[in-house]
Amino acid sequence: HGTIDLAVIPGDGIGPEVVEQALKVLTRAAGNAGLEVAPTEYRLGAEAWLETGETLSEETMTRLRGHDAILFGAVGADPKSAEVPSGLIEREILLRLRFAFDHFINLRPSRLFPGAVSPLSEPGEIDFVVVREGTEGPYVGNGGVIRKDTPQEIATEVSINTAHGVERLVRFAFEKAQSRPRRKLTLIHKNNVLVNAGGLYARTFDRIAGEYPEVSTDYLHVDAATIFMTTDPARFDVIVTDNLFGDILTDQAGAITGGIGYAACGNINAEGTAPSMFEPVHGSAPDIAGRGVADPTAAVLASALLLRHLGHEAAALDVEAAVERDMAGKGTAPRTTHQVGEAILAELG
Ligand code: NAD
Ligand code: IPM
Ligand code: MN
Repeated sequence: HGTIDLAVIPGDGIGPEVVEQALKVLTRAAGNAGLEVAPTEYRLGAEAWLETGETLSEETMTRLRGHDAILFGAVGADPKSAEVPSGLIEREILLRLRFAFDHFINLRPSRLFPGAVSPLSEPGEIDFVVVREGTEGPYVGNGGVIRKDTPQEIATEVSINTAHGVERLVRFAFEKAQSRPRRKLTLIHKNNVLVNAGGLYARTFDRIAGEYPEVSTDYLHVDAATIFMTTDPARFDVIVTDNLFGDILTDQAGAITGGIGYAACGNINAEGTAPSMFEPVHGSAPDIAGRGVADPTAAVLASALLLRHLGHEAAALDVEAAVERDMAGKGTAPRTTHQVGEAILAELG
């Protein structure tokens, strides 16, 4: 019963390679739960831009808005392709979607799965989730360059942080922490230097903490947080942080849990006013694109986040359990993208 009306944006580089596997697993898991997945593919990315001169039209935005959810691979041109300005595709597609669809929660769970190899000698039990802000901070394009190419050049990207945006982010993070067994929430910022935005975050955090007496809280400056993420990642349960810090910390989180190929992301509009979007944390990986060796696990785990967001908790858990069994049994021989996808599918049954 029920159909998931899914937009699929495979994108560039390894994006299409990993999305193919994720869509296959998603379709099977949904099918096992009596659901149908009806995918509509959107060809967006560097190649499409080079062909058409358009990154993402208003018409496409309107069509995307009509879907239940979006499965996204990755965008970003190969830096060897000098015709594509750095970051153009990322800003005009990925960031545009996050902003237009109000994906204010950028949810990034990190788990060290049994069988995954952490580069840390004693990683301990890593199981935390980063609640990264998704629509504000230095990402909003509030800045510019004056006196360009002169010794007096001035370049700015002014971080935007609103009471409304920080409040709904922090509230979501407290709810998340409240729902987890350890009930711990860490605010990460840099309020010793970024006193204005950091102050807004800290005051909002402290005020809302009063409503969640069962959640234990602490605060770390982002520089120190990178130390603890290396020396004692088991200390983290839920982290709430700003857009840029969250970007950086979640690549580090991917690395310590065995690789960025396992890290999934939900761009969530928690108010339900537009479709949410699910993707791996990693990018288009031009260095390995086209070889069929990218790990699709992150994209597969993103499809579990998608199922969970749409209310299909059992199907989401099925996907996660299949990944867990696959990781535990995979051994150390290298596998192709396709082989990993098939192995997870086999675990799903
Ligand atoms: P990246 O995440 O693409 O790659 C970083 C490193 O991780 C590379 O060595 C890559 O080979 C490896 N890697 C990434 N995904 C992997 C996977 N699934 N399996 C195995 N190895 C994997 O980051 P980058 O090199 O900084 O960025 C490349 C391009 O992607 C840039 O244009 C960037 O702007 C873009 N980008 C897009 C997104 C997105 O669309 N969501 C996210 C990050 C970066
Ligand atoms: C991510 C990416 C994006 C970000 C880029 C490609 C705009 O790095 O999703 O982590 O910085 O958010
Ligand atoms: Mn990133």
